[in-house]
Amino acid sequence: MLTGRFPSAPSSDRVRPDVAVVGAGPIGLAIAWRCAARGLRVAVHDPAPGSGASSVAAGMLSPVAEAYFGERQLTALLVASAERWPAFAAELTEATGVGIGYRTEGTLMVGLTGDDLAEARRLWAYQQGLGLPVTPLRPSELRDREPALAPRVRGGALAPTDHQVDPRLLVPALRTAAQRAGVVLVPQPVRQLSDLDAGVTVVAAGCGAAALTGLPVRPVKGQILRLRAPDGLAPGFRHVIRGYADGEHVYLVPRDDGEVVLGATVEERSDTTVTAGAVQRLLRAGVDLLPELAEYDLVEAVAGLRPGTPDNAPILGPLPDRPDVLAATGHHRHGIVLTPITADLIADLVLGGGPDPLLTPLRADRFGPTGAVVGGPEPTMEGDPWS
Ligand code: GLY
Repeated sequence: MLTGRFPSAPSSDRVRPDVAVVGAGPIGLAIAWRCAARGLRVAVHDPAPGSGASSVAAGMLSPVAEAYFGERQLTALLVASAERWPAFAAELTEATGVGIGYRTEGTLMVGLTGDDLAEARRLWAYQQGLGLPVTPLRPSELRDREPALAPRVRGGALAPTDHQVDPRLLVPALRTAAQRAGVVLVPQPVRQLSDLDAGVTVVAAGCGAAALTGLPVRPVKGQILRLRAPDGLAPGFRHVIRGYADGEHVYLVPRDDGEVVLGATVEERSDTTVTAGAVQRLLRAGVDLLPELAEYDLVEAVAGLRPGTPDNAPILGPLPDRPDVLAATGHHRHGIVLTPITADLIADLVLGGGPDPLLTPLRADRFGPTGAVVGGPEPTMEGDPWS
C-alpha cells in the first residue's frame, strides 16, 4: 500500500522533513527515534512534550493482567509489544545513559474479599485459557512474596511477565534519544494538517488526533494518585499489585525512589478535575490492600485523558482519504506497553514496507460513519495466536 513512498534515499533538502510527527508523547517520540535511526529527517511538533496521558500514566507493562474478556485481539498485540520491551529498554538506556525505571519483579493480582477473589478467578481462568502465564498462589505464598499485604486479602496470582517502567523517566529519555538521532523538536501546536509540509505526517497526538483527523478517538478520564513512603525509604512492597477490593479495581506501582502510584478511575468524561469521591475510593481500596499506605505522604492527585476508540484498540495506519498521513493513536489504557511495537510498525510503514499482518485489524478505515467497527464487534488479526 505504501510501498514506494521513499523510492530513493531521503532527499538533501534541509527544510522539508521526510516525516512530521504530531505529538511528543512516548508514541510520537519513539516513532521519531525509529525513523531518524533509519536515515530519515524527522520533525516532532508539540508545544508541551510529554504533557499528555503519559505524564500521569503508571507505566505498567501488563499484557496479562490487562487481558480482558472480549479483547482477545488487543491482548495479542499487547503480548507482542511487551516481548519487545526488554530490548527496547536496553537500547534506550544505552542510547541515553539514563535509567527509565524498568523493573521486572512481576505483578501480583489479588482479591480482598471472597467476592473479589471469585471475580478475579474468573478473569485468571480466562487469561490462563489464552495460554498466558498466570500462577495462582496460596495465601502463604502470597504473603511470602509480599508480607505487607493486608491479612484480610483472600488470595492472589502471579503474572511474572507483567513488568513496569516509569513514564516520567521514559519520555525525557526518548526525547534525548530522538534528538541525538537528529530529530528536531518544534514547540508549536499543529492546528490542522495543512500546517505541515513533509513527505509523511504521523498523527500521534492522543486525544488531539480526533480534531486533526476526524477519527473516532474519545477522552477516557483517569484519576490517579501518587504517594511517597516516609523517611526516604523504598515502598514496603516490590511487585506491581493489581487488586480487587470490595468491588473497586486498583493498581499499586512501587518505584525505587519511594513513590507509589495508585490508580485509577476509568470515566467517560473529558474534564481533568480531581474529585473527592474518586480520591476516597482509590485510597480506601489501596489502604485496605496494603495498610502501611495509610502512613505514606499523599503527594499528588491528578487526572489524565486516555485516547479511547470504539473497540479499545489503537488506530495504526493511513487515513482512508490521505495515504500520506498515518495515524498512531487510540492506545487507550495501553500507550506505554504499546510504544515499542507502535514505533516499529509505523516506521516500517513510513519506509514503505508492506503492512505487517499485525496492522490489519488496526486500520483507520475499520470504523464506519457511526464509529462502529465495520464487519463485527471484534476485528480479526492475522497471526493471532489464539485464532
Ligand atoms: N493502564 C492503566 C490505566 O489506564 O489506568
